[in-house]
Amino acid sequence: MIKLSNHQMIKLSNLFVLLFVATAATAQRQEIVLNSWEFSRDSVNWETVHVPHDWAISGPFDKKWDLQKVAIEQNGEKEATEKSGRSGALPWIGKGHYRTKVEIPEGYSRVELVFDGAMAEPVVTVNGHKAGEWKYGYNAFRIDITPYIIKEGVDMGMSCHMMRWADMANIQVDLQNLEESSRWYPGAGLYRPVKLVLKGKKDDKAYLDDWGLFIRTLSATADKAVVRMSAKVEGAQAGQSLIFLLRTPMKVVAAEHATIGADGVATTDIEVLNPQLWSPESPFLYDVDVELVATGKDGLIKIYDNIKTHTGIRTVKVSKERGFELNGQTRKIKGVCLHHDLGPLGAAVDKQALIRQITILKEMGCDAIRTAHNMPSTLQMEVCDSMGMMVMAESFDMWIYPKCKNGYARFFKEWADRDITHLVLNHRNHPSIVMWSIGNEIPEQWDANEGVYWAKHLQDLIHQLDPTRPVTQGMDRADDALKSGFAQVMDVPGFNYRVHKYDHNITQLPVGFLLGSETASTVSSRGVYKFPVAMTDNSQFASYSPNYDPTAIGKADGQCSSYDVEWCPWSNLPDDDFLMMDDRDYTIGQFVWTGFDYLGEPTPYDEYWPSRSSYFGICDLAGLPKDRYYLYKSQWNKDDHTLHVLPHWTWPGREGQVTPVYVYTDFPEAELFINGKSQGRRKHDLTANQLLAPLSHQPTGGGLLLDRYRLRWNDVVYEPGELKVIGYDQNGRAIDKIVKHTAGAPTQLFLNTEAILPEYADGKLRNTYPKPVAQRDEMVFVIVSIADDDNNLVPVCNDELQFEVTGNGHFVAACNGDATSLETFTLPHMKLFNGQLVVVLKTGRRPNQPVVLTVKDPARGIEQSLTIQIEG
Ligand code: GAL
Repeated sequence: MIKLSNHQMIKLSNLFVLLFVATAATAQRQEIVLNSWEFSRDSVNWETVHVPHDWAISGPFDKKWDLQKVAIEQNGEKEATEKSGRSGALPWIGKGHYRTKVEIPEGYSRVELVFDGAMAEPVVTVNGHKAGEWKYGYNAFRIDITPYIIKEGVDMGMSCHMMRWADMANIQVDLQNLEESSRWYPGAGLYRPVKLVLKGKKDDKAYLDDWGLFIRTLSATADKAVVRMSAKVEGAQAGQSLIFLLRTPMKVVAAEHATIGADGVATTDIEVLNPQLWSPESPFLYDVDVELVATGKDGLIKIYDNIKTHTGIRTVKVSKERGFELNGQTRKIKGVCLHHDLGPLGAAVDKQALIRQITILKEMGCDAIRTAHNMPSTLQMEVCDSMGMMVMAESFDMWIYPKCKNGYARFFKEWADRDITHLVLNHRNHPSIVMWSIGNEIPEQWDANEGVYWAKHLQDLIHQLDPTRPVTQGMDRADDALKSGFAQVMDVPGFNYRVHKYDHNITQLPVGFLLGSETASTVSSRGVYKFPVAMTDNSQFASYSPNYDPTAIGKADGQCSSYDVEWCPWSNLPDDDFLMMDDRDYTIGQFVWTGFDYLGEPTPYDEYWPSRSSYFGICDLAGLPKDRYYLYKSQWNKDDHTLHVLPHWTWPGREGQVTPVYVYTDFPEAELFINGKSQGRRKHDLTANQLLAPLSHQPTGGGLLLDRYRLRWNDVVYEPGELKVIGYDQNGRAIDKIVKHTAGAPTQLFLNTEAILPEYADGKLRNTYPKPVAQRDEMVFVIVSIADDDNNLVPVCNDELQFEVTGNGHFVAACNGDATSLETFTLPHMKLFNGQLVVVLKTGRRPNQPVVLTVKDPARGIEQSLTIQIEG
């Protein structure tokens, strides 16, 4: 390792400024994002589309798409029944074709086509030759298409009157999605970015292997960190070497020269004094430049190839003594699982949608996501790096034993190693990723032979590719997995649900800790409250349960109660997970199922139609928080107070009836007032320490756990007017209040561009901050709320609204979060769901020209417009 004094450092940074100037004329590698494609379902009719693209998201919804008659074995089902909406009830099954034609710039020796994922089974043809293929729709892959590039005459147009020869690539991607290949909505098409990378020079073919770059923190304290960087050169020539630069926007922190070994690899250890460590709270990123260089005969340094990226300096460790540590600090992971779909945008990945998700989650106090149950997109990892969100990056939902007829099990044996390798090589430089996962609820966890073999094999493979991060997987059959030795293989044993087994599980685990790799699966629908309020595991809908009631589904309404007392036969309420995190040192954290609702898996209404999206989300499919959001916030967000009250207070017809009131708060005590009359004070019952699930294990003595994490007034009798809650601190001082009013008739609409609406103490809606601003060519999410004259949300209004986008932008989609809605996301009209919905628009490319969203409620003659300024 070369150590530099400050003086040398300054000299070096000057040298590099000079170096860049001296070599500015050298052609550098180029990346061309391919976003304009033609698309066809039948190879006959083609339309122009923008990639990322999801061919199925515009619907129409129909139960006939992927109608599965199956027994969901993970849920304990023995007999096959019809599951409508299991994979979203959207037309993602079948074939799809994309084609585009690219002129390849001159001067490069290697042309790579890089896919961040393609759904599914992509076969790539370049100029008529099969250039490559991949099986798993979620994984990234790169294809060297250099051999297939052809010279082709290009007509430069009438005005030019000239023909010239150029390198051309006619690229076609053929995709196919089989029915019964997924347990959720997978999306369809080129749903993640595709790009061309051009590198290597015609005269010198050496280039950097993008996935050969590995940047890792070897050690880090507040005073000093050591960062190891290694990179691989293909076709290195004598005299070439590598320069590794670590920079902040203000200065060059380190610059190292490294020689290239016989294997093409160059490695260097960089010492960073007073490093700014990466964490969710302070996601500091350093820029990294890697340059393949040699000094020419003229004495000038020539750059042959270069990679620019970023890194975060941080360490990760797990141990019995200290649990999960980031930068030497123990912390319990406050995570959520996320499927990859973005609600009304489908699977088509979008940066602003990802930023919005992470903003909402961070505000809740969440610090980690699990990319259930597959490889994440690069864009998502970049957003997590820069916004500060830890990640468990997952790979598979099944191995050899299929969970659905045409799932990944068809490919596992042949492709698993390649898939794991691509996952790790593509993503190992993201500081946000703190652990890898080799699987979710793999059926063969009982199998001491093959199951254990594959668990070890995949974990070892990851260790080889990345020795810095622990490996986990989510196991749902704790007893089997512990008996077979499957669970004991893992660096981090992860258990899904069944928290009542944790105390036993831990006795079988030599590592001495465990992770709640998947927790809760509580179900609720935003703004829906059911009476009487009673805890249920919804086993009346589960054909395998002794409580099954075959008539129940016929009487159901397709919604779950937002009193947050509903779960599934295998799952539990958030309160149980909080208890295990708070009272058990051996738990290192949890990942709640799920942060946002997703398309498909409409449990407990798998057999109910219409229902096509989940109820598990802490936020709904539109990204609007359900009440549960504030339950998690009250426990997880230590920076802000939470004082949230439910239900809403607009119940025409419920006058005189018992209408319980719940408060989610971090204040130790609160008092409820109805129309000024105190209903008494409530305190969190910190003595309650018995789990609520499974229902058959109900505690006989002690307080009910619901009263430890929530404040409840169970006997409140509804009368219209004002509901007010005062939050008190430990000294009994009133600190905060929240009010809700019974709403009158809807008379106005509010359009807000905040990621999440603040809950104001007076309970009123506010207009969005004075002048909403967006960049060109980006998605904007507008929360639409209907209100009375007094600015109260009308939570019982389900009017149909119409949307119009004029000026510099266009309408993209709308979503109301109602799992039973069959309205098409991409049409400019939709019903409100309990007073709210979200409209997504995309700003145009013209600089400085505003875009205007107008929302109308034609039945009531209400209309509201929002002008969004475009910056730049
Ligand atoms: C788990 C599974 C998830 C989802 C969830 C619903 O068992 O890992 O993918 O199906 O159940 O509760």
